[in-house]
Amino acid sequence: MATHKKLTIGLFGFGVVGEGLYKVLQQTPSLNASIKRICIKNYGKKRNAPASLFTTDKNELLNDHDINVIVEVIDDANAAFEIVSTALQNGKDVVSASKKMIATNLKELLQLQKQTGKSLLYESAACASIPVIRNLEEYYDNDLLHSIKAIVNGSTNFILTKIFEEGIDFNTALLQAQQAGFAESDPTLDIEGYDAINKWTFLLTHAYGITENPENLLFNGIQFIHATDSETAAARKQEIKLVAQAQKLKNGEVAAFVLPQFVKQEDHLAFVKNEYNGVVIESGFADKQFFYGKGAGSFPTASAVLSDIAALRYGYKYEYKKLYHHQPHQLAKDFFLKVYLSFDDINSIPKEEFEWIEEWHAQKERKYLIGVIAYQKLKNQTWWRENGTSLILLPDPIIEEVASQNIKKRSLELAGVL
Ligand code: HSE
Repeated sequence: MATHKKLTIGLFGFGVVGEGLYKVLQQTPSLNASIKRICIKNYGKKRNAPASLFTTDKNELLNDHDINVIVEVIDDANAAFEIVSTALQNGKDVVSASKKMIATNLKELLQLQKQTGKSLLYESAACASIPVIRNLEEYYDNDLLHSIKAIVNGSTNFILTKIFEEGIDFNTALLQAQQAGFAESDPTLDIEGYDAINKWTFLLTHAYGITENPENLLFNGIQFIHATDSETAAARKQEIKLVAQAQKLKNGEVAAFVLPQFVKQEDHLAFVKNEYNGVVIESGFADKQFFYGKGAGSFPTASAVLSDIAALRYGYKYEYKKLYHHQPHQLAKDFFLKVYLSFDDINSIPKEEFEWIEEWHAQKERKYLIGVIAYQKLKNQTWWRENGTSLILLPDPIIEEVASQNIKKRSLELAGVL
């Protein structure tokens, strides 16, 4: 029988996730893993662990030869990258929960893993308790992954649930998400979609071998969603969710983005409420599969960190199969999106940018249209996220090709816009 490595852990961070992990590890003695030292930023507050464990000197962990695993669950992406890269170079395996750090340093981290031969695992960094990375990496190791559609940010999903289903106002809902420990310490990272796109960046690597910088991907958050949008959603028997989507096109490229989206009530993602996350995977023969679980919070996140620690006992590493063992997919730029746009002032909307507009509602103070626009226009232009404009994708928003210029002109005329 294979012997399992004894794991001696140096832990960076003792916040929501760090403390959760400490408690979870105490309840899992069979793991043969123990925390030797915990590095924190300052000694300031009282902590629920023996004072002798704590230090503020990172080198006490990074240079300790007994410590063979660094677990990093801190908030500061730059400091986290420094810790993770030093730990790998010092011959230690690493478990990290830092979404932003992984997304913004992905290429360097891939290089460091190659160079050092050490393992860097980060299952907790996306969808917390849902084992999405290992599934994408191990199970869908083939060319059959047609699409992934997911809710990857717990705080925004929590806020949308509270606003639209419980009638709570935005600020109270955000405060509740902060109090529950779901939100980032800078909650604009959640609200404006940065956290979701960071997670999507490396999920795209494990799903399709795409390695893009987050800022090169199209994304937005829930900050512009207007009360009347939810009325439209209800009238259409749909819900509004912040959806991360990736879909393989006929030419083999992958369309990918994170934007608010109308979701039909029978869609699996409509079932995902509060801080839960959900992932719908569509593959060649299996059709749809739905993964569901808590996407934020102390124990759900710690459970994924624990699972990574457990995997290190067997020397588990991500192979990045889609990147290194298959032909990586390219990010698609040439496709169209079907969008709903609500706004106060018609003059702020460049109607000529649309391929066509098929609905137009201008009776009330808040107006809206439904139309089709090129992905590149949204990617390169900013008007759709200014002046109180709210853009929400329609269900099944991706259109691979549009017919001719005539359609554009005719539909604009029909809409009475030209
Ligand atoms: N702020 C994040 C979220 C925490 O709300 O999803 C989990 O990554």
